[in-house]
Amino acid sequence: MSYFIGVDLGTSAVKLLLVDEKGTIHGSVTKEYPLRFPKPGWSEQDPADWWKAVQHGILQLTEHLDKSQVRGIGVGGQMHGLVALDAQDRVIRPAILWNDGRTAAQTEWLNTEIGKEKLSRLTANIAFAGFTAPKLLWMRENEPENFARIARIMLPKDYINYRLTGVHACDYSDASGMLLLDVEHKCWSKEMLAICSLKEEQMPQLFESYQVIGTLRGFVSGALGLPRDCLVVAGAGDNAAAAVGTGVVGQGGCNISLGTSGTVFISSRNFGVDPNNALHAFAHADGGWHLMGCMLSAASCNKWFCDEILKTTDYAGEQVDITPEKLGRNRVYFLPYLMGERSPINDTDARAAFIGMSMDTTRADLVQAVLEGVAFAIRDSVEVARSLGLPIESSKLCGGGARSPLWRKILANVLNISLEIPQTEEGPGYGGAILAMVGSGEYESVQAAADKLISVRETVHPDPELAALYERRYQSFKLLYPALKDVFPRLS
Ligand code: XUL
Repeated sequence: MSYFIGVDLGTSAVKLLLVDEKGTIHGSVTKEYPLRFPKPGWSEQDPADWWKAVQHGILQLTEHLDKSQVRGIGVGGQMHGLVALDAQDRVIRPAILWNDGRTAAQTEWLNTEIGKEKLSRLTANIAFAGFTAPKLLWMRENEPENFARIARIMLPKDYINYRLTGVHACDYSDASGMLLLDVEHKCWSKEMLAICSLKEEQMPQLFESYQVIGTLRGFVSGALGLPRDCLVVAGAGDNAAAAVGTGVVGQGGCNISLGTSGTVFISSRNFGVDPNNALHAFAHADGGWHLMGCMLSAASCNKWFCDEILKTTDYAGEQVDITPEKLGRNRVYFLPYLMGERSPINDTDARAAFIGMSMDTTRADLVQAVLEGVAFAIRDSVEVARSLGLPIESSKLCGGGARSPLWRKILANVLNISLEIPQTEEGPGYGGAILAMVGSGEYESVQAAADKLISVRETVHPDPELAALYERRYQSFKLLYPALKDVFPRLS
């Protein structure tokens, strides 16, 4: 038997899966690490914490295993985060993450001074605050001494791959989110590098996600007890890895992820751009491309409301009082913009809000509003895709939020589509393991592996009556952000 380790380097924790070549999961380990918000809207992590958690995770995952059978590792990671290394490969400052909103001014400068049309021509995308290029401009302006020390930049999962192999690599799917890649031609954009005062030698080497970047460094293989020839593939951004893990590869599939972020991912064999750039146009981990909408706070809204406000970790318990007759009839609405918002409104000033409460509003109504508000915001991205003529009639669903049967039902009815739940909700980790299998030659392509390994466990169908109730609620939800848009900047 051969084993592959799939790693999902997330925002709150790293999740590791041990998978055999037939796709059976033999173990999983989760290791949490701190997420810091040094100022409102800022979001940082220490790459050393990621690496420590990955090492401990691998040791625990393979504790009772004949480790010589581990053939490969594939990492899917939180996208866009800026990891800057000096000439000795030391981390210069904490990583600035995908949900960090400090770069409003730099984002605005890129979109107006360089111009959306030019950015889209060079990179297939416009600037969003979470992307990597605005972070580099922020660092150049605000931390010039740190900026001058940069010898190499990379993304979060690339730092793990570097620690494992000593190779500075990045794959096309993750590199797409830097606003430095010519996504169509899969090479660094010389013009974008110049705009950010970067040289090509500061950039990691580019690979397809399933290509092998190297094997374990001697001392890493010794410390982890894994074979020296255990290979490491380039891996992918977590959304592309999740799409691989749910079988959304090739032409026209859709995957929705209800994780810390909420994403709608539409795969394509061909390169294509949303003419309004509301959806990101990125490379996929199967060698093709995808369009994606990303909301910054999805399952994290429910986590925040339960952990911080209701002071409970019993998420399922909080949903017990949301009985079927209450669905589609809630008078309370929630805007889920706890970290500002990316798709489709691109507004770092936006903030979360409960609206519509009265004296008879209950705790359960508020929990329900949170679940519904996230579903409505995901629908906003689905509507953009529909407006481009992309028919989304069903979707795979993954991420921590997908574990709630109630949330699945709400989402299926808000979107009025069937949601297919794969055998595992651990999309990025499973996708990472599949990429490692392809890299090792176990399968000839990502498509072949996905066809063979991924099956659907359950399908949630919308109910026409409930979908009609939610349609009316969604039309009201759509009025709320435009009404508050001009108020938000005054609150900060
Ligand atoms: C995608 C995005 C998020 C992170 C979350 O553009 O920013 O989904 O990748 O980990």
